[in-house]
Amino acid sequence: MIITFYGHACFGFEINKKHILIDPFISGNPLASSININNIKADYIFVSHGHADHLGDTIKIAKKNNSVVVSNFEIINWLEKKGVQNTHSMNVGGNKKFDFGKVKFFKAVHSSSMPDGSPGGNPCGFIFETCEGNFYFAGDTALTYDMKLIGEYKKMDFAILPIGDNYTMGIDNAIIASGFINCSKIIGMHFDTFPVIKINKNEAVLKFKKSGKELILLNIGESIELPNKKA
Ligand code: NI
Ligand code: MN
Repeated sequence: MIITFYGHACFGFEINKKHILIDPFISGNPLASSININNIKADYIFVSHGHADHLGDTIKIAKKNNSVVVSNFEIINWLEKKGVQNTHSMNVGGNKKFDFGKVKFFKAVHSSSMPDGSPGGNPCGFIFETCEGNFYFAGDTALTYDMKLIGEYKKMDFAILPIGDNYTMGIDNAIIASGFINCSKIIGMHFDTFPVIKINKNEAVLKFKKSGKELILLNIGESIELPNKKA
């Protein structure tokens, strides 16, 4: 699958010819000014929780692309009231088969409220099982022992973990999480956007390396193909 980083916690995936977008916080992100949201394709938009740095441009992109927006029950209700018509609501522990693969909603240890203060339900992470690879998108979360379940469910090809600390786990806990998930290929997110989550990128990559794991830090707008094609 092709993965594109749009900054903060926003990633686009091309899987089985479908475009999937997660947490599209772009126009509000000062670091993502090079990204034009009108060029982003989204058959699906997944929203992990209600905070503005994740909900972001969901409404605008969803209306332009007629995307199916997938999120928890409370966020979907809120979005429907804002005129988003193509939706699917889920909640923690639930699985659903889509035309690109299966998604499971996984618990995130965090909070969730909408920009206007409405309740935002449970914060979530997502486990994607697809014919082009499996991955875990953790959302905003603390390290939790429950992540061991992910390693037991299915082999993940890679995991996308927050590493910016303060609001979520930081680098050291992300390394432990990587062990819990039993996946040593990690893409970092939720760093550098705000002063309080600024990290030393070289140090972070080195710390992972010393633990026998790989931390991939993409530039905003950069795409990679994962899992790596076997030679
Ligand atoms: Ni948050
Ligand atoms: Mn956040």
